[in-house]
Amino acid sequence: MKIIEVKNYQEMSQTAAKYIINKVKNSPKLTLGLATGGTPTGVYQQLIEDYKQNHTSYAHVTSFNLDEYIGLAKDNPNSYYHYMVENLFKHINIAPEHTHIPSGMNLDLQAVCNEYESKILEQGGIDLQLLGIGSNGHIGFNEPGTSFQAKTHVVDLAPSTREANARYFNKIEEVPTQAITMGIQTIFKSKEILLLISGKEKQDAMAKLLNGDVTESFPASILKQHPNATVIADEKALLGV
Ligand code: GLP
Repeated sequence: MKIIEVKNYQEMSQTAAKYIINKVKNSPKLTLGLATGGTPTGVYQQLIEDYKQNHTSYAHVTSFNLDEYIGLAKDNPNSYYHYMVENLFKHINIAPEHTHIPSGMNLDLQAVCNEYESKILEQGGIDLQLLGIGSNGHIGFNEPGTSFQAKTHVVDLAPSTREANARYFNKIEEVPTQAITMGIQTIFKSKEILLLISGKEKQDAMAKLLNGDVTESFPASILKQHPNATVIADEKALLGV
């Protein structure tokens, strides 16, 4: 696992965006794994800026998002579908039919999981997966204790995850209790992984990632065994290391 140290959130976002833009330019048919949350919004802003100025084309790019809340419709401002459209998709020329986000509204959630997994396989897997990290080490919505072998599945969200994400909702009771997430195995099979870590809230997670063992009780630790994983971390996140 390679570590790139950067000064702050802005530099982290610029570094990651530059990396993604180069990849897209070199492989126009790239399959990108995308993340949500506060961490990647700066990267998406940079991609949009670059698109406006340099017209980098996403016409042949395919994307798969990591996760979605169960019970939130596409037009719910807190759904990850809505997040992706507002923060990235509507600003670039990615084809809507090439973007994939699991549906948390289908009654047959197991079918949604199986279909998502098959679509990723049909596509030949994910070339570059962008990741954030939860303060408890979760990746996607794979909470501590999730098997490293897990494929796309339904999860119960940890109380700490619901609390952390409550900032986007009116009150904590509105935060869904379940989500669909790509599994750790699904994520791990990506050819390349870019994990972004910024801010003092992530200091403990950063330290555990670098100094701790590879264990299912800290899901992100599996990335230490990935042949092509890079962490871009800022000074505040690295303070406790
Ligand atoms: C969320 C998402 C993750 C994200 C993480 C950290 O719950 N499901 O994909 O990486 O928590 O979020 P943030 O970037 O807002 O700190």
